Amino acid sequence: MRLPVLSATTLALSTRALADTNNITDAATTQSRALTAANTLQTWYNSATGIWNTCGWWNGANCMTTLANLAALDIDDTFNDIARSVFANTFAVAATVSNPIPAKGNDPADYLSSNGTGYYPATDGVPTGAANTSIWLDGSYDDDLWWGLAWVAAYDVTQNADYLDLAEGIFYHLSNAWPSKCGNGGIDSNYEHVYVGAIANELFLSLAAHLANRAEDSAFYLDWADRQWTWFRDSGLINENNTINDGLTNDCTNNGQTVWSYNQGVILGGLVELHQAMNDDSDSSNSTYLDAAAEIAQGAITELADDNYVIREVCEPANCAPDRTQFKGIFMRNLKVLHAASPNDTYAKVINASAESIWANDRNDANGLGVVWTGPVDAAVVDASTHSSALDALVAVIEK
Ligand SMILES: *[C@@H]1O[C@H](CO)[C@@H](O)[C@H](O)[C@H]1NC(C)=O
Ligand SMILES: *[C@@H]1O[C@H](CO)[C@@H](O)[C@H](O)[C@H]1NC(C)=O
Ligand SMILES: *[C@@H]1O[C@H](CO)[C@@H](O)[C@H](O)[C@H]1NC(C)=O
Ligand SMILES: *[C@@H]1O[C@H](CO)[C@@H](O)[C@H](O)[C@H]1NC(C)=O
Ligand SMILES: *[C@@H]1O[C@H](CO)[C@@H](O)[C@H](O)[C@H]1NC(C)=O
Ligand SMILES: *[C@@H]1O[C@H](CO)[C@@H](O)[C@H](O)[C@H]1NC(C)=O
Ligand SMILES: *[C@@H]1O[C@H](CO)[C@@H](O)[C@H](O)[C@H]1NC(C)=O
Repeated sequence: MRLPVLSATTLALSTRALADTNNITDAATTQSRALTAANTLQTWYNSATGIWNTCGWWNGANCMTTLANLAALDIDDTFNDIARSVFANTFAVAATVSNPIPAKGNDPADYLSSNGTGYYPATDGVPTGAANTSIWLDGSYDDDLWWGLAWVAAYDVTQNADYLDLAEGIFYHLSNAWPSKCGNGGIDSNYEHVYVGAIANELFLSLAAHLANRAEDSAFYLDWADRQWTWFRDSGLINENNTINDGLTNDCTNNGQTVWSYNQGVILGGLVELHQAMNDDSDSSNSTYLDAAAEIAQGAITELADDNYVIREVCEPANCAPDRTQFKGIFMRNLKVLHAASPNDTYAKVINASAESIWANDRNDANGLGVVWTGPVDAAVVDASTHSSALDALVAVIEK
């Protein structure tokens, strides 16, 4: 059984204000493209599993985040209702039906720092959500944190406190895993405590910063976010080109591994939220967090954008499935957040060019979107992951 998809009448959007200061494709067109693609995404939604057929558990969190970001723009009532139904259904069934390794997540021992003494100060108490959160954990710390951010995004649309509680509960478990063996901070990639990777650490920072702007105990989360950023900044993960490599070596130095687009993205959204939580916004040109984000964004664009400003992944076209097909959209989603906080024409060009190229060159007859944004679309690799990732770009380009 599937939830209803958008009706044809919904897609025939009324004409909206065409004025667009950036001369990007007019507002009505960007909106109807995103709604059309959201409609396609919902053909994969499986209400029995609470996630999307053809892609995996962590991708599901990103599909949901994309829908939430579109719903947050509040451009179509029918779509907003569908997004809310998805949140409610996924909240009810996904963890019990679809979490791949619930046994790991259910064992608190898998969430203890490898140095034997987690940082979490007991005096701060345990957030109410934590009691029932463990079913969302699977032992891969990044997977857990993607869901944490997805529930924050759903909370932003609905103001449903259960979603925020769940995000806090997820953060609580992950905070027990801090610090890693490197630099007396950060978290490992998973319960095996072997690898310190960039992504789990960016997500940990971003979730803490998001919670600082939303949860009751703002100061508590702000402290975590700032401490995690200080560690991350000094960890060696950011290289001389202001890009972020995949992780650290056994000796806790930059391992020089691939500069994946999502690792240049999550950090941007985290730093913007941290900037906002710090009330460091009296002069956005004078924020150390926004300055750091701008350097990383520029480093990423230099490395990942082609001559026409379209973002690509080094694994393209053949070696991205199943996980890496998700990455570029995550970069776009977060570049948009940075652009909103600290506008820059270069970011606008990247967002516009990527969204335009996807629509023109990387779309099949069913409005399914592929992995290589310059095209041509390869029907064999269009799935809910490639599609939701491209949808992130179509959502990012909507001016609001
Ligand atoms: C947008 O288009 C208008 C009218 O064609 C033009 O005057 C303006 O300079 C353009 N703005 C940008 C940023 O290109
Ligand atoms: C473990 O981390 C805590 C908190 O950062 C720190 O105080 C302690 O020294 C660390 N222990 C070891 C053995 O590294
Ligand atoms: C956790 O779930 C159980 C069983 O559904 C429920 O009885 C309990 O109230 C929940 N606890 C919290 C803190 O939500
Ligand atoms: C920085 O960029 C240059 C030029 O693309 C490249 O040769 C070098 O390997 C990069 N450094 C790192 C640490 O990635
Ligand atoms: C701006 O920068 C100046 C000089 O570094 C510093 O003294 C001031 O506190 C900064 N203001 C803000 C709001 O960050
Ligand atoms: C936009 O980004 C480019 C590249 O980093 C930079 O040179 C430029 O100063 C930025 N513009 C503004 C207005 O910050
Ligand atoms: C947006 O992309 C379209 C299609 O590539 C291009 O014609 C237009 O100039 C771009 N606009 C901006 C502001 O970059």
